[in-house]
Amino acid sequence: MSRAFTDSGSVARAYDNWTNDALLERLWGEHIHLGHYGSPPRQRDFRRAKADFVHALVRWSGLERLPKGSRLLDVGCGIGGSARILAADYGFEVLGISISPAQIARAQALTPEPLRQHCRFAVMDALALELDDQEFDAVWSVEACPHMADKQRYADELLRVLRPGGLLAVADWNRRDDTKVTMNRLERWVMRRLLDDWAHPEFASIEGLRGHLQGSRHGSRLEIDTADWTAATLPSWIDSILEGLRRPAAVLGLGPRGVKLGLREVPTILLMHWAFATGLMQFGVFKGQKPG
Ligand SMILES: C[S@@+](CC[C@H](N)C(=O)[O-])C[C@H]1O[C@@H](n2cnc3c(N)ncnc32)[C@H](O)[C@@H]1O
Repeated sequence: MSRAFTDSGSVARAYDNWTNDALLERLWGEHIHLGHYGSPPRQRDFRRAKADFVHALVRWSGLERLPKGSRLLDVGCGIGGSARILAADYGFEVLGISISPAQIARAQALTPEPLRQHCRFAVMDALALELDDQEFDAVWSVEACPHMADKQRYADELLRVLRPGGLLAVADWNRRDDTKVTMNRLERWVMRRLLDDWAHPEFASIEGLRGHLQGSRHGSRLEIDTADWTAATLPSWIDSILEGLRRPAAVLGLGPRGVKLGLREVPTILLMHWAFATGLMQFGVFKGQKPG
């Protein structure tokens, strides 16, 4: 089945299938984002690096300054790995939303009873959040933007639900700004694969998403800081293939289907690694405080 983006339903189906297949969770654990391997990057345990990514983004974006009990929205929450850390380790009241019903069911199942009061999940479209204006003290969104067909609307929705004085923390896969360096033929072919293989309509550049956030009608006078975390996250790509060799039972436990599912992802993972290693793609992080 093709996973090329057609509408948000195609993204929901792709994540429903990845969740129900179980391979992604068996290999990657509860985080569907890249790991943080430090600056400069060093050898890390693959899953440890993913949890470290959450703490690194909390520190960099200043979220650790927020008092316990602060309300945080996680937009595109996957199966809730980050949301649970943000609730358990930082004492936030977290709502995680995803377009994928299977992910939300899994996120709820993975959340232990005592944490459930502080870490809730709902199926919702990031481009039409069923939430009030200024409801949250912080908005967090990791690696969800590549699936958004309308980046300005995504930025608008993140900022609409953030209260004045609230903090924004976003991580994104970004394409090189092609107004500065245009893509050659090979890069155009790779880019098409990166988009179509994993239900991505388009990638924003770092400057492009920064412009959408700063230009949002819900973010007047908002200053967004950005950083490029490509070097710190790059080892994750190859590590995610090696993980299949380190934990063969995760793949083989699903029988021949597990091997087939795993092999399907390898070319895209290698192309992602190549694109991030050569500068065609960049790992952008974005932070800002909504003016009060
Ligand atoms: C690469 S995963 C990242 C998951 C999670 N942030 C993490 O770090 O583990 C992208 C997430 O964005 C969600 N997503 C994509 N498009 C969405 C939309 N329109 N509305 C809500 N969630 C969306 C997917 O369902 C998935 O949970």
